[in-house]
Amino acid sequence: MNDNRVSHVGNIVETQQARKAFYEKIDGSNCAPLWEVLHAVVTATPNTPCVPYLWKWDTVWPWLQESGRIITAKEAERRVLVLENPGLRGRTRITHSLYAGLQLILPGEVAPAHRHSQSALRFIMNGDGAYTAVDGERVTMHVGDFVITPSWTFHDHGNTSAEPMVWLDGLDIPIVELLDAQFREDGLSESQQTDRSAGSNLARFGNTMKPVEYKSRSRTSPLFWYPYDRTREALHTLAQEEPHVVWGHKLQYTNPVTGDWAMPTIGTFMQLLPAGFRGASYRATDSTVYAVVEGNGRCIVGDQVLAFGPKDVFVCPSWMPYRLEADSDAVLFSYSDRPVQQALDLWREIF
Ligand SMILES: [Fe+2]
Repeated sequence: MNDNRVSHVGNIVETQQARKAFYEKIDGSNCAPLWEVLHAVVTATPNTPCVPYLWKWDTVWPWLQESGRIITAKEAERRVLVLENPGLRGRTRITHSLYAGLQLILPGEVAPAHRHSQSALRFIMNGDGAYTAVDGERVTMHVGDFVITPSWTFHDHGNTSAEPMVWLDGLDIPIVELLDAQFREDGLSESQQTDRSAGSNLARFGNTMKPVEYKSRSRTSPLFWYPYDRTREALHTLAQEEPHVVWGHKLQYTNPVTGDWAMPTIGTFMQLLPAGFRGASYRATDSTVYAVVEGNGRCIVGDQVLAFGPKDVFVCPSWMPYRLEADSDAVLFSYSDRPVQQALDLWREIF
């Protein structure tokens, strides 16, 4: 090695030692060099730990039933099997920003009243006739219904039917955690006094009309029950037309008073893929959770094929291209953090 080369190597070693000593010195006072991590935190494209995954109903249903034998709804407060993304194990979430769980309530059980700052959606998967009470109004739930529990509203659930009920819970828990804005409170009694039925909620807000004296108190839809029979009828009427090349016939749930999203933090959708549909490739920045109401098909995402059937749940991560196919008429409910991304000018899609 010539003298110049030796001197150059010596300079590199010296520089590295000087930097290391500098990093150690500032580390003691909770400072760190951005240049060591810049490209890991400001990436060229989304770098989500969320991965594609499908939960088969046939797999989880026996486990839900087993959970019903080992703990009561009252003991558990909420008897839920969390659907944890394989890339986010131990973090109680299905995507980086949203939570999903399957909740079981057996005949005669009550899940006691509480409220929290996290907003929740219920999407009914199995059974018929259990109720949820939201701020003093009670709704009887049926498969395919979408029900909202707005932020900071008391809610309790009960099953007065003769069969087990299961619904998908979708919450913005990780978003509220990110913002450190969590509050919760137990109700004074196990079940709320209910003085109005969801039928009256639907009558007030579910007919493209509203009570004359109504003033919005929050961004969440005042309509909190979107029954499946209406959604299904709308989709099957639209199915007379040509489907969109990516998503078939797709509707977004809205706040009927403002026309905006039904929930401020979670976008919710229902779509119909006609039999034989072969969707074009799509990608968007909102990781999306799908719950299958009817039909069979596939989601081809990255190099995986997620073959879905009724009551299955699957997740497509941010910015990963995917396409949907249906063998029979398929109806899919879905939710994502799109309202948050759009409010922050972050949302993108490509197809
Ligand atoms: Fe709750």
